[in-house]
Amino acid sequence: MPDPLANSNIALGVTGSIACYKAVDLASKLTQAGALVDVVMTADACKFLAPLTFRSITHRPVVTNVFDPQSELSIDHVAIAERADAVIVAPATANTIAKLAHGFADDALTTTILATQAPLIVAPAMDAHMYDNVATQRNIATLRERGCVIAGPASGRLASGLVGKGRLLETPELLGCLRQTLGSDGDLAGRKVVVSAGGTQEPIDPVRVIANHSSGKMGYAVAEAARDRGAEVSIVSAPTALPDPFGIKVVSVRTALQMQGALHKECANADALVMAAAVADWRPSDMSDQKVKKGAADTWQIELIKNPDIIAGITFERLVKVGFAAESEDLVANAESKLLGKGLHLIAANDITAEDSGFGVDTNKVVLLDREGGQEALPLMSKYDVGCAILDRVVGYLY
Ligand code: C5P
Repeated sequence: MPDPLANSNIALGVTGSIACYKAVDLASKLTQAGALVDVVMTADACKFLAPLTFRSITHRPVVTNVFDPQSELSIDHVAIAERADAVIVAPATANTIAKLAHGFADDALTTTILATQAPLIVAPAMDAHMYDNVATQRNIATLRERGCVIAGPASGRLASGLVGKGRLLETPELLGCLRQTLGSDGDLAGRKVVVSAGGTQEPIDPVRVIANHSSGKMGYAVAEAARDRGAEVSIVSAPTALPDPFGIKVVSVRTALQMQGALHKECANADALVMAAAVADWRPSDMSDQKVKKGAADTWQIELIKNPDIIAGITFERLVKVGFAAESEDLVANAESKLLGKGLHLIAANDITAEDSGFGVDTNKVVLLDREGGQEALPLMSKYDVGCAILDRVVGYLY
């Protein structure tokens, strides 16, 4: 299943908040993802930004006024409402939220929303006190009760100078929310998928660790792909520099043993486990409580003991298990023996010496091996698309 944003019709409502400059980036990223974007602006939004800005990015007319005789869309403003696969209001001011909660249709945006049957996402952006106001909170609760998705707001520094809740979510989170909304009826709806990601860290002393080069990108991409076809998703994540993806539970761990404990818990009611983490095979047998001093000696012996094989030890009956094999030689043979040895349904083997594949990059090239002996070499693709290909196979194994 491809990115749900590709070839989708998105109506983007922009209202009069200073955060509306961020909507330009959202419109741009949506267009790049292959969505057809209809921007509808309120009169106050037009005081912050010219409609031409959005028109230049989306290559489409921008609607500002239902009664504008110059606008072809104004003649049939219901057209946008009807063709939309999803409507997102970002940023949504307290005023527009109030109007939506009470069913007003006094401008192009509220009219479009009243006329649409597509799912509605509202991303509030306002001063913290306006957000906290009982009137705003009740209006948001009303929208939520009606099935509207309220995305954010985030906490942080606000344009007013206050620090609090009221920041518009960042573009990647809004895109994640749209993808999750568009994919909510997908083939993993009602299923729980657990993904492990990142490289575990094994402490030597309070300052030093044994780590590896895993960026976590492969695991996070699989998790997002599962979210975008309807799954409830948890990531058990060793340290990464990646932001928490929208709509996904992230359980943070550091060591292999912590990851093992968290995965056992998360997998108890899960349908599938995709084990993309680079788990340290060894850990120091003792962790020093104090920082080990350099001292006079030229060498330092650290004794290592073996970590448990986590995925081999998770044996819930209905759980579909997918592993990864990062290999630098004998790719297929090594992956095959791991597939069997660890009791997996599927393993994705990648040659970490190949360019554009493996640690840190956004692409990967894998060979998928299944327990029935099937083998498929996939071309170089984005890690999200590798995730989609893996999940296509997982769906076939689900009980
Ligand atoms: O044995 P190797 O580390 O190559 O196996 C790779 C697969 O096994 C990966 O899916 C990895 O996350 C998982 N693994 C594990 N526990 C370990 C080591 C690896 O679950 N201790």
